[in-house]
Amino acid sequence: MTNSDVVAFVLFGGSGDLAKRKLYPSLYLNFIKGLLPGDCKIFSVSRLSEEVQAFQAEIFLQLERYVSPSQFSDEKAKAFVKCIRHIQLDVTRDDAWETLETHLERFRHAPIVYYLSVAPRFFGDIAKGIASVSLNQNGARLVVEKPFGHDFESARALNKELRLFFDEHQIFRIDHYLGKESIQNILALRFSNNIFESQWHAGAIESVQITVAEKLGVGDRGDYYDNNGASKDMLQNHMMQLLSIVAMEPPFAFSPDAIRDEKVKLLRSLRPIDADSYSDSCVRGQYVSGQGEASYLEDVDKESSDCETYIAIKGYIDNRRWAGTPFYLRTGKRLAGGVGEIVINFKPSNPELIKSKDGLCSNNKLVINFQPDQDIFLFINKKDNQSESFSVDTARLQLSTKSGDLKQPYERLLGHVLAGDQTLFVRDDEIEVAWKWLDQLAASWEQGGSSPYPYKGFSQGPIEADKLFVESNGWEPIK
Ligand code: NDP
Ligand code: BG6
Repeated sequence: MTNSDVVAFVLFGGSGDLAKRKLYPSLYLNFIKGLLPGDCKIFSVSRLSEEVQAFQAEIFLQLERYVSPSQFSDEKAKAFVKCIRHIQLDVTRDDAWETLETHLERFRHAPIVYYLSVAPRFFGDIAKGIASVSLNQNGARLVVEKPFGHDFESARALNKELRLFFDEHQIFRIDHYLGKESIQNILALRFSNNIFESQWHAGAIESVQITVAEKLGVGDRGDYYDNNGASKDMLQNHMMQLLSIVAMEPPFAFSPDAIRDEKVKLLRSLRPIDADSYSDSCVRGQYVSGQGEASYLEDVDKESSDCETYIAIKGYIDNRRWAGTPFYLRTGKRLAGGVGEIVINFKPSNPELIKSKDGLCSNNKLVINFQPDQDIFLFINKKDNQSESFSVDTARLQLSTKSGDLKQPYERLLGHVLAGDQTLFVRDDEIEVAWKWLDQLAASWEQGGSSPYPYKGFSQGPIEADKLFVESNGWEPIK
């Protein structure tokens, strides 16, 4: 990564939840590693009226709370908070931009990062406001939080609006899954190992499963969640990113656009799930009470809701590499475990020739666990050395190596913003194509009038999802 030349970091929503829990701690970690220039000023922007010292003291407390003890230092945290200033302004008021200009005048010709950690309805107006005082200079970067739109049309409109004021090379759309260490590792695993790369296709792979399961329910985010559901909250963004990284073609270079070109191509070849294929391809669920915890309806305080807290799909990618290979994706809340896992199931090899003691020879399987633990396992068959006859059993090889403190997603993503590297950010066409696919899926379930199936809290999800499988192996258990 190149050294950062950023001189000012302007955090819209600097008094909000995301800023306190993730953004200041991540900026601090970049600061102590020398990735945030020592003379860089951090401006928190919100309507809050706060004296500088009180605000700095508050952020110090948040750092103490959210930075791991091994990385927190009293002295460095004090030096870091000294870089923070608070700007009181209301982004809905016309005079806001003159106020901003007053504070940023001296940085007018230098690289500034604007981070929009505010409600999405403000994204367009803030971009316009910054441009109205000509602070959108070429080196400026605009970081945009999720959700980015709520369907294809709104995402496209927002893209158009932002591009009136900032060029695409200045816009950094956040998907924090792209900042996860293990997700990055998929690229290394795939493209630097001939044993995997040469077998990464429909000829050798029977199916792929991608699971992001959470034990938590919707908590206090009911208002947001009930309008979005698992499909918009997780599938359109995080799950589509995981899918595109697992299945994309090798990029011609390890550069932001070469990688993102391949991700877009992959998403374009994801077969739409239309009304005819819907019932064989998608299952939605909603949690009911389990283990004494409330149901979704109790959590959102509603009599009824068609919002899904679980979604599973069987998708096909219509390109030469993946012709006929099913990709099973599922994500949901209040499931039996909190796990993120990618499972590559290889096709059987000589099933008639060599068998295990009980007659079945397991397929090779590559399991990439990305949360809570980061582990990679390869399941291979070997001669069963306890058996009288020639048979095989399965050995589990652990491919992962543990190291010290790994970078957290927001720390890594902010580091890339500071360095001006867009590789880990979602491009305009990528976000639009993902929404287009999801809009088609949503139209299909609406056309069929299907409601989510109930599933018990802390279970494996609705049993109806088992019927998506075309092979015998079924879903990996959520533990
Ligand atoms: P909060 O409601 O906690 O914070 C919103 C921030 O916006 C506050 O600092 C608030 O300050 C400021 N704000 C609101 N209205 C105005 C205004 N008119 N002018 C200036 N500032 C204003 O939200 P979150 O921090 O939770 O979320 C921020 C963004 O991040 C959203 O887009 C959200 O979708 C996204 N996000 C959040 C996650 C999280 O874990 N929190 C996870 C993923 C994405 P004040 O009221 O003092 O003006
Ligand atoms: C967020 C979703 O984007 O990702 C949340 O809005 C979800 O609903 C979260 O809980 C999951 O992130 P992670 O990193 O904990 O898997």
